[in-house]
Amino acid sequence: MNFKVTKTDKTRIEGIDWNNLRFGVYFSDHVFISRYKDGKWDDGAIEPYGLLPFEPGLCTLHYGQTIFEGLKAFKAKSGGANIFRPDMNVKRLNRSAELVCIPTYDDERLLAGIRELVKLDSKFIPGNKGQSLYIRPVVFGSGHFLGVTAASEYHLIVMTSPVASYYAAGLNPVKIMVSTDHVRAVQGGVGAAKTAANYAASLWAGMDAHKRGFAQVLWLDGVNRKDIDEVGAMNIMFVIDNELITPSLSKGTVLAGVTRNTVLTLAKEWGMKVSERNISIDEVDDAHASGRVNEVFGTGTAAVISPVGLLEYKGKEMIFNDMKIGPVAQKFYDTITGIQTGEIEDTHKWNQHVDF
Ligand code: COI
Repeated sequence: MNFKVTKTDKTRIEGIDWNNLRFGVYFSDHVFISRYKDGKWDDGAIEPYGLLPFEPGLCTLHYGQTIFEGLKAFKAKSGGANIFRPDMNVKRLNRSAELVCIPTYDDERLLAGIRELVKLDSKFIPGNKGQSLYIRPVVFGSGHFLGVTAASEYHLIVMTSPVASYYAAGLNPVKIMVSTDHVRAVQGGVGAAKTAANYAASLWAGMDAHKRGFAQVLWLDGVNRKDIDEVGAMNIMFVIDNELITPSLSKGTVLAGVTRNTVLTLAKEWGMKVSERNISIDEVDDAHASGRVNEVFGTGTAAVISPVGLLEYKGKEMIFNDMKIGPVAQKFYDTITGIQTGEIEDTHKWNQHVDF
C-alpha cells in the first residue's frame, strides 16, 4: 500500500532529552492520518505532526466519542525495528470502535500505515534497554454539533513517542491503592473499550492515590466492590500457591490486554497452572494472611511487567514478596522484552519487522 507522504521541514528531534525520556512526553515528526466523511474512510496519508483545525463545537470534546490504542516498536538486534503484536491492537481498536459507535477501520491499511510511520520516523526509536517507540492511534468524532449522537465525521491519527518506563519506579515494585469509593466500569458499560470515559472516570481516585504515595489504583467491580477488575493502565495478575490467576474478561469490565494475552500464552507453554476467573479482594486478603501469595504484578503495553509490592485495602497494607521483584515477574519481563528486541527467538511470530 502506498500512502501520500508529506514530510516536515522542521524536525522535532533536537528537542528530545534522550537521557530523561519518561513516558509520552515527546512526539516524533509525523503522523498517519485518515479522515471519515460521507460514509467512508479515505486512503490515509502521512503528514507532519502538528496543530489540527477544530472548532469549540468539536463533538468529541463534549461527549467523548473517542478511542485509542497503545503499541510499541523496538530497535531490533538484527537491525530495523520490531513492532510487537500490532495485529492484536488493531483488532482491539475495532472492537472499541463498535462499543462507542465509531466506524471500524481496515486492519491491513492501518497496519501498513503504522509500518510506514515507524520507518519514516525510525530515528526516534530509542535503543537502550526498557526504551521503545510508543505508537498511539486515536480515533475520534470530528464533526461540530451539540446533539448527543454519534458523529458523521471522524479522524484517525497515529502518533509516535520515544519512551522509557511508564512508572518512574521502572521495574521496581509499585504500591497500589485499592479503590472502594470510586469505580471505573460496570457490567453493560464500556470497561472493555479503550475509550476516554474509562480514563476520565479514573482520575479522581488516581489523584487521591498519588497524593497518598501510591502509583496507581486497583479497581473493584462496580456493583459489590469486591471482585478485582484491573488497574486502568494495566491488567493485574496474582501468583497464589504457584497458580497464575487473573480476572476473566467475561463481564466486559476489563480491557483485553495484549501483554495479558502474551503472559497467559507463555505461562501455559511453561506448564504453569493458569486461571482466568473471578478473584475477589477478600480472596487475595485471605491468601496474603496465610502466606500463600507468591507474587503480584501488572501487565500492559506501557507498563510491560510491573511488580506490585504493596496493596492497600481499607487502610490495611498487604506486602508481597518483601517489596521485591519476584522470579515469575522477572522471567516474564526478560522473555517478553527479549522477544521484542529479537534477543529471544520469536516462535509465535509476534513481531512485525520493519527494515530501514
Ligand atoms: C498502554 O499500555 O498502552 C496504555 O494505553 C495504558 C495507559 C498509558 C493509558
